[in-house]
Amino acid sequence: MDACERELIEKLEGENTLSEEEYVQLIENGDEEARELLALKASEKSKSVFKNAIYTRGLIEISSFCKNNCLYCGIRRDNTFAERYRLTGEEIFSCAEEGYELGFRTFVLQGGEDLHYTDDVLCGIISQIKKNHPDCAVTLSMGERSAESYKALRDAGADRYLLRHETADRVHYNTLHPREMSFDNRMRCLRELKETGYQVGCGFMVGSPGQTSRTLAKDLMFIREFKPDMCGIGPFIPHRNTPFAGEKTGTLEMTLFLLSVIRLMLPGVLLPATTALGTIHPRGRELGILAGANVVMPNLSPAAVRKKYELYDNKICTGEESAQCRDCLEERIKTIGYRLVVDRGDSVYYMENK
Ligand code: SAM
Ligand code: FES
Repeated sequence: MDACERELIEKLEGENTLSEEEYVQLIENGDEEARELLALKASEKSKSVFKNAIYTRGLIEISSFCKNNCLYCGIRRDNTFAERYRLTGEEIFSCAEEGYELGFRTFVLQGGEDLHYTDDVLCGIISQIKKNHPDCAVTLSMGERSAESYKALRDAGADRYLLRHETADRVHYNTLHPREMSFDNRMRCLRELKETGYQVGCGFMVGSPGQTSRTLAKDLMFIREFKPDMCGIGPFIPHRNTPFAGEKTGTLEMTLFLLSVIRLMLPGVLLPATTALGTIHPRGRELGILAGANVVMPNLSPAAVRKKYELYDNKICTGEESAQCRDCLEERIKTIGYRLVVDRGDSVYYMENK
């Protein structure tokens, strides 16, 4: 690392922001030494806000049906080899019940864009979970919907919504998605989610085909401006039955680097060490935390369906029971000097503006 990169890192730490050109420079020239310095500063920053607490969210993968055809995704419509399933309300409630016993206070309902989940169906499920567990937060990750739908789901009790922007570059967006999907609609959804009063998560895959240091710099500029409550970033991992089957996996180094940069940009943001990161490296999630992440999202889906929610090849934790997943993560986190907490883990940004 030369003096120039060191200066950029110090500027990012002090001012929480860089220009697009400076991000490009840091991304292109950041070597191992720069990554180490960034991780050190980012984990210090994270500790100054969250101490050594790591928040957990119990992920319930409610459906592998999807009407969309994102080119990167293993459960895309055109993957005729994908095994499709949909959980019933009762199955979802029992996952949440088990999660509650294990100490989870946030449940994330994630799925493909499955037309079965009308507003009525989803609202019924959300309100029942909130009735069963009034002290818990419900997060949705169910894709693009109308403003009216987001409002109805919020009124039914949903607290948060995760919708990765995927890339802040319109041309890049169009190379990752089929024609019928649009960058403008993705951005509309994100804006409306915020306006509806959700705690909102955006994010992107690291190393998606066509990503460049310029598109990444635009992602960082977008994140800084949008100021999400949560930011989900994890490596792109190819799935054998998608058009991107032959593409390269995103790297551990770049993912850790970007986690650190985002922590320095938004010290209070909720930043998950993702399952995808744990998939590309045996200690990926621990390294993610040491680079500034402060959230983990173990799987609470019924063991019987886990393999079917296959977004990418070799996804980890598909053979485990929920309790095993939680215990395994707890152990891993202890070894690096952090602790899993029983807490809703609301966004500090959101609470400040309430
Ligand atoms: N349908 C919802 C949506 O589009 O937001 C939620 C489910 S979608 C599968 C959740 C996220 O998985 C996507 O936003 C994408 O970033 C990530 N994902 C999909 N395919 C992936 C892959 N091959 N490698 C890594 N992440 C992937
Ligand atoms: Fe719909 Fe991936 S294409 S969830």
